[in-house]
Amino acid sequence: MNSEVTFWPSGRTVKVKPGTTLLDAARRANIPIRTRCGGKAACFMCKVTVRPESELQPIADNERRKLSGLDGCHIRLACQARVAGKVDVEVPLDPLRAAVERQLARQAEQDDDLW
Ligand code: FES
Repeated sequence: MNSEVTFWPSGRTVKVKPGTTLLDAARRANIPIRTRCGGKAACFMCKVTVRPESELQPIADNERRKLSGLDGCHIRLACQARVAGKVDVEVPLDPLRAAVERQLARQAEQDDDLW
């Protein structure tokens, strides 16, 4: 039986086999998640937030050590967290894209002030 992973804010959903990492599920869904270490739990760049009701396999010691307490905040490493059922994942915006969107929002506010 397949598991279902939905990535937010896009809302894109992909079906994967249980045990698939969130990083592999994201790649199948064509959702970019930044990595530098190639999925070895070394770079800490693939942090995502999982919604509390998400069904993931128990966190492994290696990932728990890397997160050093953040796992209680529903933060997981996408390269280590494995799907067990239905999962909802919040993917942070790429920093460059986030900066561009903030700049565009500021520009729009300034344009509104002129009218
Ligand atoms: S990809 Fe580097 S820690 Fe997950």
